[in-house]
Amino acid sequence: TISKSLDGKTVLITAGPTYESIDPVRFIGNHSSGKMGFSLAEEAARRGAKVILISGPSSLDISHPNIEIHRVTSAKEMFNEVFKYYEISDIAIASAAVADYAPKEIASEKIKKNDDSLTIELVKNPDILKTMGERKSKQFLVGFALETQNEEENALGKLQKKNLDMIVLNSLRDDGAGFKNDTNKIKIFTENDRKEFALKAKNEVAKDILNVVEQEILK
Ligand code: C5P
Repeated sequence: TISKSLDGKTVLITAGPTYESIDPVRFIGNHSSGKMGFSLAEEAARRGAKVILISGPSSLDISHPNIEIHRVTSAKEMFNEVFKYYEISDIAIASAAVADYAPKEIASEKIKKNDDSLTIELVKNPDILKTMGERKSKQFLVGFALETQNEEENALGKLQKKNLDMIVLNSLRDDGAGFKNDTNKIKIFTENDRKEFALKAKNEVAKDILNVVEQEILK
């Protein structure tokens, strides 16, 4: 068999949104499709890696002998699933759009519409990526950032604060970039380098990201 660039590597990828339950029938979520994470999983598998894809609710499916998909719903479930596999991973890529807050309590019955206003108290979810940074041993750790202001400064701040090796900045200013689209426009920052890429399909963006990861782990 032909040798491939990620042969022997285990790659952990988080993808999609998380849903945070309010009551038995309602949740707080976001519009993440999971496309970026699934494209990364596909490309890493094509390059010979063993891929552990941990996805929040997404309509996407994936089937490849090298990919194990673990489906979760909430941020807390994603956190628990990630740390079952983090230690055995060589590369970890956090592309999930994890909800920052979750309802403090999940109502056991469907909430009735009675009053004119309803208040739901939210509490902060665990930061999965930050915890990966704290527990980092051999892993090459990649995060994503989606900023609406001071984007480069904030992305670089996250690289440091979360102890990452690389951060991918999604531009929200460009049409066709980010979240729900099939295309994305990114900048990649490592401690000493920055690269800017053109708007392209997410499966092409996945190749750019993994090319930089491979360059960096060979350094
Ligand atoms: O701090 P911020 O949410 O902007 O950071 C974005 C990065 O952190 C993404 O890579 C995202 O997957 C990750 N993240 C996480 N757990 C959270 C929040 C964000 O893994 N609770």
